[in-house]
Amino acid sequence: MLTVLSLADVAIVLFHPDSGAAQANPAANTLAQALQPAPPAATPDTEADPAPDPIDRLLGHIPAGAWEIARCEGRWTGEIRLDKPPTVLEIKLFSENGGDRCRFATFVDVTARSAREAELQSRHDELQTTYERLAGTQEQLLQSEKMASIGQLAAGVAHEINNPVGYVHSNLGTLQEYVDSLLALLDAYASALQGDARQDDARPDEGQAGKREALQAMRSRLDIDFIIGDVPQLLAESREGIERVTKIVQDLKDFSRIGPDEPMRPSDIQKGLESTLNIVWNDLKYKVRVEKYYGRLPLVECHASEINQVLMNLLINAGHAIHERGTLVLATGADDGEVWISISDSGCGIPDEVLQRIFDPFYTTKPIGRGTGLGLAICYSIIAKHHGRIEVSSRLGVGSTFRVVLPVSQPDPPRAGAPPV
Ligand SMILES: Nc1ncnc2c1ncn2[C@@H]1O[C@H](COP(=O)(O)OP(=O)(O)O)[C@@H](O)[C@H]1O
Ligand SMILES: [Mg+2]
Repeated sequence: MLTVLSLADVAIVLFHPDSGAAQANPAANTLAQALQPAPPAATPDTEADPAPDPIDRLLGHIPAGAWEIARCEGRWTGEIRLDKPPTVLEIKLFSENGGDRCRFATFVDVTARSAREAELQSRHDELQTTYERLAGTQEQLLQSEKMASIGQLAAGVAHEINNPVGYVHSNLGTLQEYVDSLLALLDAYASALQGDARQDDARPDEGQAGKREALQAMRSRLDIDFIIGDVPQLLAESREGIERVTKIVQDLKDFSRIGPDEPMRPSDIQKGLESTLNIVWNDLKYKVRVEKYYGRLPLVECHASEINQVLMNLLINAGHAIHERGTLVLATGADDGEVWISISDSGCGIPDEVLQRIFDPFYTTKPIGRGTGLGLAICYSIIAKHHGRIEVSSRLGVGSTFRVVLPVSQPDPPRAGAPPV
């Protein structure tokens, strides 16, 4: 046994089954020499003879209670840190049959391994911090791209709102005049009726014809017949104007709602496409004819405002690609647990060498102020987060088609702490 022990590289201290006396192999002696003296040894058997120095130095580092655990469970493993010299010692205690037959301890200097692990841990922590910072930056970029797009659109939306608000305002002015005239006529009728009641007994027919004539003259002076014809029209027009404004405001609200922390919800993405088209319409309406081929779509589990942002960027890109006049074809469909939305433009098309880079962040072929190069990169990450894909096909000078494919339901519940997009 001793021969085997003396050959082992690992420091081993063996305890005699009867006396409890400690026997160390050469590796244990060498290790013990290198260590500072330790507190009194916690040997497995307190009645046993004290182990000879310097083995005490090794045994003294065994924490209190460790032998007790080794006795119950057969073994105990732990690491301790020593100051002088700075060392990490891995200690293993083995105890067979409740400690009666065989008890021994091994000691390994794992300082280097521990340093490597600490280094790895600190790198990991650093990476984690960087990752969190990047995720935050990405969230900010997403937000600022969204804000930039909204900023670009604000003028258009203001114009869209201004127009109906303008005519609703003017209609209200006209209606005010109409109401004044109608009230004046009502007044005239009321006083004519009162006059009739007073005169009825005395001279029943006197003045009736004159009053009727006066009222008739007033009626035509105030253009009451025209007013009666015009009021329903003015009201309908105003109502329609207000509905347009309400719709645009609602669309903007849906659009700008940020919800990375909210759970994905079943949403009508065709409605999202319509709202988004409504928001960007001012940019498109003078040069684009829209054709729609909508299928019947199930509700799709998603962050609707993020999908709207994807659609908005695709629509704006399509608009930018059409220089003079062109066609935008919007199509939707569903099959096999997936829905798809395709946006095709008859614009300039994308050369092959550009096609490979369009999803790169900050890649843009547009002048400063018109393009940030972030739109498609963000679209890509939003769609990836939804476990979907974006397919592109394009022919130079003919046009491009962007097709977004999304699963109807998400494969797994979103992980807690999943990276925001
Ligand atoms: N429908 C399209 N037709 C032609 N080129 C397009 C189209 N969509 C995207 N691209 C190209 O991809 C580039 C990157 O688009 P994007 O990431 O949205 O950034 P940006 O629109 O700010 O330039 C555009 O600059 C353009 O060259
Ligand atoms: Mg863009």
